[in-house]
Formats: sequence, C-alpha cells, structure tokens
Amino acid sequence: MQLLEDAARRATAYLESLNHRPVRPDPDAVARLDQLDTPAPLRPTPPADVLAQLDRLVSPATMASAGPRFFGFVIGGALPVTVAASWLATAWDQNTCFDSATPGVARLEAIAQRWLLEMLDLPRESAVGYVTGATIANFTALAAARNAVLKRSGWNVEADGLYGAPPIQVVVGEESHPTLLKSLGMLGLGRNRLTRVPVDSQGRMRVDKLPKFSTPAIVCLQAGNVNSGAFDPFPELCAAARDAGAWTHVDGAFGLWARVSQSLAHLTRGMELADSWATDAHKWLNVPYDSGLAVVRDTAALRSAMAITAEYLPSSGARRAPSDFTPELSRRARGTEVYAALKHLGSEGLAQMIERNCAQARQFAEGLRAAGFEILNEVVLNQVVVRFGDAEHTRKVIDAIQRDGTCWAGVTVWQGLTAMRISVSSWATTHEDVERSLAAMIRCAQEGSPRAGATT
Ligand SMILES: Cc1ncc(COP(=O)(O)O)c(C=O)c1O
Repeated sequence: MQLLEDAARRATAYLESLNHRPVRPDPDAVARLDQLDTPAPLRPTPPADVLAQLDRLVSPATMASAGPRFFGFVIGGALPVTVAASWLATAWDQNTCFDSATPGVARLEAIAQRWLLEMLDLPRESAVGYVTGATIANFTALAAARNAVLKRSGWNVEADGLYGAPPIQVVVGEESHPTLLKSLGMLGLGRNRLTRVPVDSQGRMRVDKLPKFSTPAIVCLQAGNVNSGAFDPFPELCAAARDAGAWTHVDGAFGLWARVSQSLAHLTRGMELADSWATDAHKWLNVPYDSGLAVVRDTAALRSAMAITAEYLPSSGARRAPSDFTPELSRRARGTEVYAALKHLGSEGLAQMIERNCAQARQFAEGLRAAGFEILNEVVLNQVVVRFGDAEHTRKVIDAIQRDGTCWAGVTVWQGLTAMRISVSSWATTHEDVERSLAAMIRCAQEGSPRAGATT
C-alpha cells in the first residue's frame, strides 16, 4: 500500500503548491502532455511509475482551480475534508445503487438528503437524487416534471413515449443557462418549442412579460444567473405558475446555496413554492467533481421517472434505494463527500462560507470600480462582471490577467457587452487573496500586459 501513501504525499504536495504557483497551467507543461500520447501500451508498467508519470506530466499542466485565486466560470474548490472523504469512498469502491448491497453509503445519502432539505429549507418530503452535476440534475428533475404533468393530462410517457402526447408548454427565461436548454432537448421537449420570457437588465425573468399558460406546462426559473448572479422574482412567478397548474422548476446550480444564509433571504424567498430544484455540490458546497443534486417535492414522480423495475434487481425495500432517484444504476458513492461537507461545516459554517464569498465579490467590485472600471451587474451574490473598455481592449486585459498568473478569471459576453466574469466560490479564498488578485487585475488593466515575474 506504499502506492496509496505515495499518492497521498503527491496530492498533498500538489495542494500545498497551489498558493505559490501561477493559477494558469504552465504552457511548457501543456506542451509536454504530448509525452503521454504513446501507442497503446503492450507491456505492463509498475503502478508507482504510472503514478509518478501522472504527477510529473499532468500536475503542472492543471489549472489551479482548487486553489484560492481561481475565479473562472463558477467552479468552487474542494474542502480538504471532502477530498479526504472522497479518497476513502474510492477505496470503499461501493456501487451506490441498492441499500441491501451497499448499506453504508446508501445510509450516508439518506442522511445527507435529510440534512440538505433542512439546511436549504426545502419541503422535507422531497427526494434528492445524487447526480453528476447541474445539467443532469436539471435533466433528472425535469424528467419527473415532464412525466407528472403528462400523467395529469392522462398520458403515460414512460409507456407510450412522446409520440402523440399532449404538447407541453415549457417556459424559460431568455437568460436560462444553455445546459438547461440542453436538458430540455434531451427530454424531447424541443429547444425550438420553448416559450422564452424576456429578462431585465440583470437577467431576471420579467413578471410583466409572463405568457398566458396553457396546460400541461413546466416553468423553469433560475436562482443565480451565471453572469450577474441575479435571482428570478420567485414569489410572483411561482404563484402564477401554481395558479395555472404548472410545474415550477428552479435551476439553482450555485444560487440555491444562498438559501442557507439569512442575509440573502430576500433573494431566495418564494423559491420553496416550486416543485423541483437543481443544484451543484461541486460548485458552492465545495466538494470534488462530479456532484450535483436533483431535488423533487413529489418523491413518487421522481421515483417513477428514474426507478428501474427489472425482475432480477432487488425491489424497493423499507430503506431508500439510491438508484430510484438517479438516471444511473451503477455509480460511485458521491453522497459521501456531500455528507462530509455538511457534517464538517454545519449550517453555520456553510452560511459563513457563502456570505464570505459574497463579501469578497463586493470587495472585488468596489476595488475595480475605484480603479475606474465599469461593473456591469448589481453584485447581489458571488458574481462580478467587469469591463475594462471596449471588447478588444477588455479581451486583451483578460488575456494579460490570465498570463500574469496571480489569479484567473474568464471572458463573457453578457447582454451584448464583452466583459470579465469573476466568480468567488471557493472555501480557500481569503481577503488577502482578493487584495492580491485585485492588484494584479488593476496592474494588468493599466499596463495592458503582465509584469514579468509576477506569477508566484
Ligand atoms: C445556472 C447554471 N445551470 C446549470 C449549469 C450546469 O452545471 P454543470 O456544469 O455542473 O452541469 C451551470 C454551470 O455553470 C449554471 O451556472
């Protein structure tokens, strides 16, 4: 087992290096990745050599997204306790499908389900499916939605498919995340058939532009616009959808976590009236990839959309069968890391982490605005959208910031403007990291090029 000790030593050294190395991958290391690309191996290689090669060639070619100054996309780090729990779960190698076969991890997921519903203050009767990410969480919850609204119209989509089914009106915001549209496409609901509701200057669905609903209908709302971080106005939208007998779904890939904070309650109020919610644990709960959560109020609807009923498989017993709630039958025990994060942080620690990241986003916005740059969004959560000038100049500055290596943030085009998007979603980011990153961003924007040697 020296091999596993070696892996732990290498992983620890890697994580410890993240604060001192450039955030972007080393371009020379990226070029050296070609060395991995050999003909398919014929002869065995000793395990220690395989590991050493991975560490030597791949570790320096990674983006330091697990470190404290990565602000790209909406990614989040991984709390050390969740990395450690993930190692243990990998050693267990449990196929998390049935309680009878893998009782330990099935129980962890059942307990974490209860804790999640309590901490997020969502209907306690809901079921949670542990899936790979928000795309599949949206897919999973919307499969339950599709089946349930068609069932109410007297159509059994599981048995008879969508051919000849009553058409479902699917309502989305103009700034829904593209993966939500992908999920709807995968469910046969047709990307081109969606009713798209105009949004306001922050990307929030406009209540005054809500269409007349026909039934069956599914309304997809958003908690956390991927650019601005804005939340749809839930009380009005959920009430209108409910009055019309529609199923309301919330894509809260990162924004759902705001539910844990009292100070963010003004954003999340009314969301509990929905029927289903999707979120990522690998984003703001800071567990390792891949980990998403599909939450559905009507447990029977989720189970009937996801459960398999093959004769040779154990039938649902008294305890929760994990595979009754996910598209996969066989999968890793990803609920282990969710359990570890919730146990370690508690609701207070989780709220502190979310609120700290939101305060850090405001710190970024204030610093950049004070330096004369335009902040395009109302900074209500953890997202900041900043412009350094016209599109060409903004792209040049972002490029310089990325090459500088002190921190990393990416380009976006939001509401027609090219900008840099900063997402603060890591447990590891400190006030000093924000100060240091701000200084680097402002320096690059003022010089238009990175300072030599400013990478460590
Ligand atoms: C609002 C929203 N929905 C869905 C997704 C897709 O999440 P994932 O990449 O985990 O599938 C994202 C990713 O950033 C997102 O921000």
